[in-house]
Amino acid sequence: MTKPIIALDFPSYSQTKAFLKQLPYKNLAVKVGMELFYLEGPHLIEDLKQQGHFIFLDLKLHDIPNTVKSAMIGLSRMGVDMVNVHAAGGKQMMASALEGLEIGSGSAHRPKLIAVTQLTSTSEQEMRQDQGIQTRLIDSVLHYSKRTKEAGLDGVVCSALEASAIKQATNESFLCVTPGIRLKTDSQDDQKRVVTPASARENGASWIVVGRSITKAKDPAKAYETIVKEWEK
Ligand code: C5P
Repeated sequence: MTKPIIALDFPSYSQTKAFLKQLPYKNLAVKVGMELFYLEGPHLIEDLKQQGHFIFLDLKLHDIPNTVKSAMIGLSRMGVDMVNVHAAGGKQMMASALEGLEIGSGSAHRPKLIAVTQLTSTSEQEMRQDQGIQTRLIDSVLHYSKRTKEAGLDGVVCSALEASAIKQATNESFLCVTPGIRLKTDSQDDQKRVVTPASARENGASWIVVGRSITKAKDPAKAYETIVKEWEK
């Protein structure tokens, strides 16, 4: 069973460290996103690695294929375990991202590469209005998932609501990494397609990503344990 990935959405490394101190566990799975990475950069990744954590660097690259490939060469040299792009960047961009990771990691282990299908903060109505995609949201997610698979990536970022349909459309080993996770008693915040850890497991999610349900909890260690229990059953 994979560990819940904790989204370290903090404005500084000192706040991140203070938070991690409250969790008495080694070898956590953590996610570093734009907020923290843009401020603290590679040295933060180096430190987290030394502490033995599994690191998902969530920068959601989306640019022309050559730029994404070059960026991925650099990211893979940081020794992170998982990185991502937006599937909307296209199959060629995704294949170039993969090529960059393979070049950058050389004989070392290549980070997993996944693609964001539709953000879990996007509703079907917003997708139609903002992106001009006039299908159902699930059809868009499945379309992006198939393109991601064809480009040779390891999986997608999606809502756990979509995980079982994605696995059926691709295969069982295709990773479904699912943010938008909330306990029944939590606030939904800006997320639209939310799922509990237990439902995420039942729906076939491969990894769950949890931010505010842990980071904003009064007792983060207790919240983490509750989530692990629900996720692992
Ligand atoms: O606090 P919360 O649990 O909503 O955090 C979810 C995390 O997952 C955030 O860091 C967000 O950037 C990320 N994420 C997401 N939806 C995606 C991809 C990533 O919420 N589709």
